[in-house]
Amino acid sequence: MTDKSVPVIAIDGPSGSGKGTICQLLAAKLGFHYLDSGALYRLLGLAAKRHGVELDKVESLAVLAAHMDISFRMNEDGDSPKVLLEGEDVSSSIRSEQVGSDASIVAAYPEVREALLQRQRAFAVAPGLVADGRDMGTVIFPGADAKIFLTASPEERAQRRYKQLIDKGESVSLAALVDQVQKRDERDMSRPVSPLVPADNAVILDSSQMSIDEVLNSSLEIVIKNGIRPQH
Ligand code: DC
Repeated sequence: MTDKSVPVIAIDGPSGSGKGTICQLLAAKLGFHYLDSGALYRLLGLAAKRHGVELDKVESLAVLAAHMDISFRMNEDGDSPKVLLEGEDVSSSIRSEQVGSDASIVAAYPEVREALLQRQRAFAVAPGLVADGRDMGTVIFPGADAKIFLTASPEERAQRRYKQLIDKGESVSLAALVDQVQKRDERDMSRPVSPLVPADNAVILDSSQMSIDEVLNSSLEIVIKNGIRPQH
């Protein structure tokens, strides 16, 4: 289990809710470590491809999940941490649509989730952790000191994704993205293993009509109300 003396903040929610941004800002503000659990599933998808492991070979995937050589390097400039696979910087390659889709396949196997359970818990070290994912408050850190479920309407999340893709020069249809987001929500919330659902004692924050600063301030309020104190 986890060390009870280390404060853990569990932030779960669907993609496009702004979790990644908020978790990193919150971790920086509190002086805590940051766990991007989605990156672990993405790294496994990438490692599987590189080692020639087919995405239906569950046992091999679980072995790879338990042993893959990964590390996160914090950036001094406050940017996202660098993600390394076998010493190579894969921060941008793990963000591709293909790796995202491979990640969602491997993340559906209970054996893979089990293999990554202790690796995720190992991130809970002093002075504290902000854990970002889908099952942080329900499965990985059920005893977390503060739990937040950050969400936004499917239209708003599709709109945010649309802007990102347009900025990257990709041509996409907004209607198709809304449809895609809704389908993914249904799949994520109804999957038998670690479905995306708020923990019983999570505070639900809907960021649809909120700025990043407003979400950050509300999150900080929740954290402080739960007795967690910043390091600096
Ligand atoms: O948040 P993300 O897009 O980087 O996540 C990548 C995939 O991993 C996505 O399909 C959801 C899945 N995931 C999960 O099942 N459990 C987590 N704790 C984090 C991500």
